[in-house]
Amino acid sequence: MEMEQLVALCRRRGFLFQSSEIYGGLQGFWDYGPLGVELKRNVREAWWRDMVAAHNELEPPAGAPSAYEMVGLDCSIIMHPQVWKCSGHYDLFHDFMQTCRQCKKLFRSDHVWEMLKESDWVKSFATTTSPGPQPDRIRVDGGSMLRWAKTKGKKVAPGLALVRNPEVTLSWLVEHIEKNPDEVLSIPTILQFVATEQFAVTGLQTPCPACGGDLTEPREFNLMMETYTSPIRDESTKAFLRPETAQGIFVNFKNVLDSSRVRIPFGIAQIGKSFRNEITPRNFTFRSREFEQMEIEFFCRPETSPEWYRYWRDRRYKWYVDLGLAGDRLRLRDHEADELSHYSCGTADIEYAFPFLPAGEFGELEGVAHRGDFDLRSHAEGKLVRKGDDFVVEADAEGNPKYRGSGKDLNYFDDQTKERFIPHVIEPSAGADRAALAFLCEAYREDEAPDEHGKPVKRVFLKLHPRLAPIKAAVFPLVKKDGMPEIARDIYKSLKPHLNVFYDEKSAVGRRYRRQDEIGTPFCITVDSQTLQDGTVTIRDRDTLEQCRIHKDACLGELQKRLIG
Ligand code: GAP
Repeated sequence: MEMEQLVALCRRRGFLFQSSEIYGGLQGFWDYGPLGVELKRNVREAWWRDMVAAHNELEPPAGAPSAYEMVGLDCSIIMHPQVWKCSGHYDLFHDFMQTCRQCKKLFRSDHVWEMLKESDWVKSFATTTSPGPQPDRIRVDGGSMLRWAKTKGKKVAPGLALVRNPEVTLSWLVEHIEKNPDEVLSIPTILQFVATEQFAVTGLQTPCPACGGDLTEPREFNLMMETYTSPIRDESTKAFLRPETAQGIFVNFKNVLDSSRVRIPFGIAQIGKSFRNEITPRNFTFRSREFEQMEIEFFCRPETSPEWYRYWRDRRYKWYVDLGLAGDRLRLRDHEADELSHYSCGTADIEYAFPFLPAGEFGELEGVAHRGDFDLRSHAEGKLVRKGDDFVVEADAEGNPKYRGSGKDLNYFDDQTKERFIPHVIEPSAGADRAALAFLCEAYREDEAPDEHGKPVKRVFLKLHPRLAPIKAAVFPLVKKDGMPEIARDIYKSLKPHLNVFYDEKSAVGRRYRRQDEIGTPFCITVDSQTLQDGTVTIRDRDTLEQCRIHKDACLGELQKRLIG
């Protein structure tokens, strides 16, 4: 499946729209349309139900070290700025970015190379200068480079030194080649032959993926979005939109302990919006500036934490499999030691091979992290930094805590063993938008199905798990006469209080089936001439196209059986 096909379907059928589209859109922000909102709600509800509401706290689930409790929270998006100072986000939550001196666009440094490979001007350059069978290995050909620079290059890469000043850049190239006569250059290497600003220095440099211009040195950039909590906008009223929902859970740890009767081990779950000033939002909703997280902070005794970490890693992986992501497109990957966040002593990512990624590459759906006691200690004592194997409160030049914690006692008292300790935390942190996108990508299928005349035609369908499908069943009268619409409407009315069903009597029934297939509706119920005689209707399965007859009064029971089964 090409990503463009899914993006077009999402727009055409009302799953996703670019935010503020009528004003040209706002990069990194997305609106869910009538079907998208149902899909994402189903993702959230499946998560909440499976992790929290339907969790049986009396018995350990398969693979769990013991029984445990789960409760929920819904915290505010804007929190006290000290939260982010103690959590480490104020100092450490940054990316490196580079700006193009020509077109002024911003790029995340670690994305530049990947974006270059995909950029229009690199592709144009490659096809013009390297018509051979191995476009990644080419011999520099001054003539064709010059022609490209003076024609297509002007349109697609106006910032590239070779385009702005072909003769100077090419002479530098020729000189380089004379010194290295046997060099066969890869396209990425050729791309680096650009001149820096005003051609003061000519040499190797990574060019801008958008226009070929020269990029500034990488600079640090904090990802938290700022806002003010008062009409007076100064440092004292500056606040941040939360970049993760997790911190709301940590700062409420004591409130939850004191107000509910939870005992360790237990988890606190939260679903909510998070915001990050992503420098290069891209790949549809995959990297957005506003997105929704589904996070659990699971509190346990330190000595049991490795077992709980393994339990949550496997449990969360299985959740995606059970909802339809499977096979070689989903994987569980343990982080290398140098990949771990400043607080983490173990993290695994659940990753999916999204179709917009190069073959063999995977994108993160969810991280499952062992956070130790980092967060509770930070919010009690002050921002921590690593010292050897432990963490200590970071000090300023005078030896005082750099950022003071709350000073509150965030220990846990075990009233059975009479021990007091800071629990360790396992955090499964998922993105609702990324999960919805992965389910859509996985569901997209094409096959052949008979049209209204029985002729096989191409069919696009979304093989969504019935729990995720926006509409659970569509009800049709075969034709708009002979009392069929009345019966179909009655069936629709009887189902609607229980399930999200859809009624349609317009156009040929084959077209109606295909419209439902395209949005992933698992079942279609059709009233036909036989219904008038014996009260039975057909129920059609989206995936197998099989139809069977059931009595019209049995529709609800049949659907419930099939949707749960
Ligand atoms: N509390 C830990 C945490 O926030 P993270 O890996 O930064 O960890 C967790 O984020 C999940 O949130 C990711 O696995 C992803 O699904 C989602 N996520 C993060 N940044 C995102 C973005 N810019 N757009 C969409 N989803 C994002």
